[in-house]
Amino acid sequence: MIQSPEQKIVDAAITSRHSIRAYLPAPIAREDIEQMLDVAARAPSGSNTQPWKAYVLTGAIKDRLTEELTRAFLDPTISSTMKAEYRYYPDQWEPPYIERRRKVGLDLYKLLGLGREDKAGMQAQHARNYLFFDAPVGFIFTLDRTMNQGSWLDFGCFLQNLMVAARARGLDTCAQAAFNAYHTIIRQVTGIPESEIVVCGMALGYADMSRIENSLISEREPATGFTTFME
Ligand SMILES: Cc1cc2nc3c(=O)[nH]c(=O)nc-3n(C[C@H](O)[C@H](O)[C@H](O)COP(=O)(O)O)c2cc1C
Repeated sequence: MIQSPEQKIVDAAITSRHSIRAYLPAPIAREDIEQMLDVAARAPSGSNTQPWKAYVLTGAIKDRLTEELTRAFLDPTISSTMKAEYRYYPDQWEPPYIERRRKVGLDLYKLLGLGREDKAGMQAQHARNYLFFDAPVGFIFTLDRTMNQGSWLDFGCFLQNLMVAARARGLDTCAQAAFNAYHTIIRQVTGIPESEIVVCGMALGYADMSRIENSLISEREPATGFTTFME
């Protein structure tokens, strides 16, 4: 198939997206964030419900949240009591998902020089989630509790749009389910109401490509592995 310039641009914006886990401090203008959110909100949604809500954290409130969350995560008497409001992962991990999960985790830790037994090193790396990996912008996304499972599909479309819109502007992201368990603390700091479920967080900023963790390219099963063509 001949590639049109548009196809190349769109494909490149999609395929150049990788989860970035270290950022430069360069700020991002509010107008640019708003523009990306406007683009992302062109996502389709069932009956045009547009169920997504975004909280954009920068400056003092981001600092306060990251401080509180890091403290909570590193204190086992607090972190052990934290519970996500929805189950992101299966209760029982089965192949091929368990192997994929292990591989991406091990690949990241190997890049960082962390051995399988280095629990403290892995914990320190995980803790970086709660700093939004030093990104200048942190998002918390929520959904009205009254909405149902279909709205989560819509939300995924919105989130992917946002991540691709960021790539088109030379920016990078990391979606973060790590925040989900800490919704009570997030609510205390931000005032997000109980009527909204915390869906996930996201870091947004310019990638610090001098950092080894940002060289991680995760694997994908090719289409032939998950697709059945029927005629
Ligand atoms: C909804 C969602 C939540 C995620 N949560 C986290 C997270 O909390 N921390 C993290 O480091 N990566 C997180 N990721 C990133 C995944 O690990 C990553 O997308 C996957 O390993 C594939 O790698 P890639 O994004 O570089 O293609 C999340 C991704 C998604 C879509």
